[in-house]
Amino acid sequence: MCGIIGYLGKKNAADEVFCGLQRLEYRGYDSAGAAVLSADGKISVVKKQGRVDNLKPYLKDIAGATGIGHTRWATHGKPSDANAHPHVAGGIALVHNGIIENYAELKSALEACGETFLSETDSEVIAKLLSKNFKGDLICALAETVKVLKGSYALMAICEGNNSIAVAKYRSSVILGYGENEYFCASDEPALAGKCKEICVLDDGDIACITPDGIEIYNGNLQRIIREKKPNTGAEQSLDLGGYPHYMLKELHEIPVAVENTAKAFEGVSAKLKSALNGVDRIILVGCGTAYHAGLAGKRYFEQFARVPAECDTAGEFRYKNPVITERTAVFAVSQSGETADTVEAARLARGLGAKVIAVTNVLNSALTRIADVTVPVSAGPEICVAATKSYIGQITALYLCAVGFAKNGSNGNCAFADGLEAMPKLCKKTLAQVNTYSLANMCALSSGVYFLGRDIDYAVALEGSLKLKEVSYIHSEGYPAGELKHGTLALIDENAVAVALIFDETLAGKTVCAVEQVLSRGGKAAVITNVESVKKALSGRALVLETCACGKFLSPLVSAIAVQKLAYETAVILGRDPDKPRNLAKSVTVE
Ligand code: F6R
Repeated sequence: MCGIIGYLGKKNAADEVFCGLQRLEYRGYDSAGAAVLSADGKISVVKKQGRVDNLKPYLKDIAGATGIGHTRWATHGKPSDANAHPHVAGGIALVHNGIIENYAELKSALEACGETFLSETDSEVIAKLLSKNFKGDLICALAETVKVLKGSYALMAICEGNNSIAVAKYRSSVILGYGENEYFCASDEPALAGKCKEICVLDDGDIACITPDGIEIYNGNLQRIIREKKPNTGAEQSLDLGGYPHYMLKELHEIPVAVENTAKAFEGVSAKLKSALNGVDRIILVGCGTAYHAGLAGKRYFEQFARVPAECDTAGEFRYKNPVITERTAVFAVSQSGETADTVEAARLARGLGAKVIAVTNVLNSALTRIADVTVPVSAGPEICVAATKSYIGQITALYLCAVGFAKNGSNGNCAFADGLEAMPKLCKKTLAQVNTYSLANMCALSSGVYFLGRDIDYAVALEGSLKLKEVSYIHSEGYPAGELKHGTLALIDENAVAVALIFDETLAGKTVCAVEQVLSRGGKAAVITNVESVKKALSGRALVLETCACGKFLSPLVSAIAVQKLAYETAVILGRDPDKPRNLAKSVTVE
């Protein structure tokens, strides 16, 4: 959700900013821009609608060793050159990630004083305020400006005639990076991986001033404060496609390693988790989008393995429903990025109400990990494709292990339900090689809508299959409990519709086959993704049967998810979509 980057050093700032923007592009690709301060203290700005690469030809025109940049996911104002950041007012250029909730009233007040605006953004209001408050000291102007802002912001600003970058943060993340005679600031840690020796994570309300002499950090009253520096251990995120045509396909092939590494990393936190969950009698899982779907699988694991009441909510709903929480409640906040605004705020709320908060995330040092009592790492590695694939499967792996661990410690637990995870990396590899989704992808590409059906844990994956398909192919899709189709949605089934049933639980297979029969008898096309032999016999010749390898019911989401992810990828490619950067979307949704 918008990525921002700043550089101050001795190198060409435009190149450094461009490199940072490429790494941050998954946060938005509606427009990109950069502002550079030249040696004679002048600011030059370039900004273009569209992807970061569009900036490249213009960067040679802006020279200097201090700069800031922005890649945008549009919230206020359509994607356009004018709405692209940086926004300039007076001699100040500013980039912003977040949302200013009171921008309309601030804008009206500025307009009443004769200010005119070039963009429809909330961010330009901040640039105007900064310029108005500037009396020769950028940090003082910034401290004054943020006092009137309501909402969320990560801000970076440069000012003509002053070699510094001013930074402010509230509810949108900012990381500072310390290199050899050079300094960085960025929206997230992966953007700085491999760039500097040490990093420091700013807290809400912090203001930082980066100059050639170093970085000073202040509170809102401009009193100096110290924030802990940490070694920058992040592995440099390779933008290399490794021979694959898309990151989505590359990341699908990284799933076996993600499962293996997540299981290994769990060993390091299981004791801490055990002690945090001591006495817990209720589990709530929260997340957004794909992470919410992982939570739905997690809910089943906790219920089935530990026989503990478990609920799963989208983080945005959880926040506003006045949730029932006691100190015996554990809230698992699931998030690839650890920065999703609703998930972070849900975790903060739960913590405030006395719950134990467990972060299940792919990004250590993210906002979520700073709120949580315990972080359970999803060690999927950097995920560049906007559509989550390996991180989803890593989340399911992590939640599975958490539930098994919890069951082992409890009195009601029944770990006999749980299948061994050890074989899963191999099974995932086999599934990637064997499951053939190409014919089904062609069928989906020609369809008017695709309905994913499943029962119990298959339903959790059906929801994810539907999300993945619509997200990367733009085909209408819904995920349904197999038993629900006949209660209304069956009216949408005709010869142009496709139903995809997931059947991985032998005991429920007959019931889900009935739902497939209902689709076939209304002239719809149907496919099943299954490892249940009887399903193949019942439907072969009438429905497309995609066989996957055998595995226990509770680990089947790892296998069925790979199949639906591959299906979504192939459908997108058949339709000529870019699966890595679906329209209108961004990874890491840091606005509410
Ligand atoms: C879909 C997808 C999104 C994210 C959601 C939450 O492929 O990636 O639905 O799952 O935006 O993001 P995180 O997991 O970073 O909190």
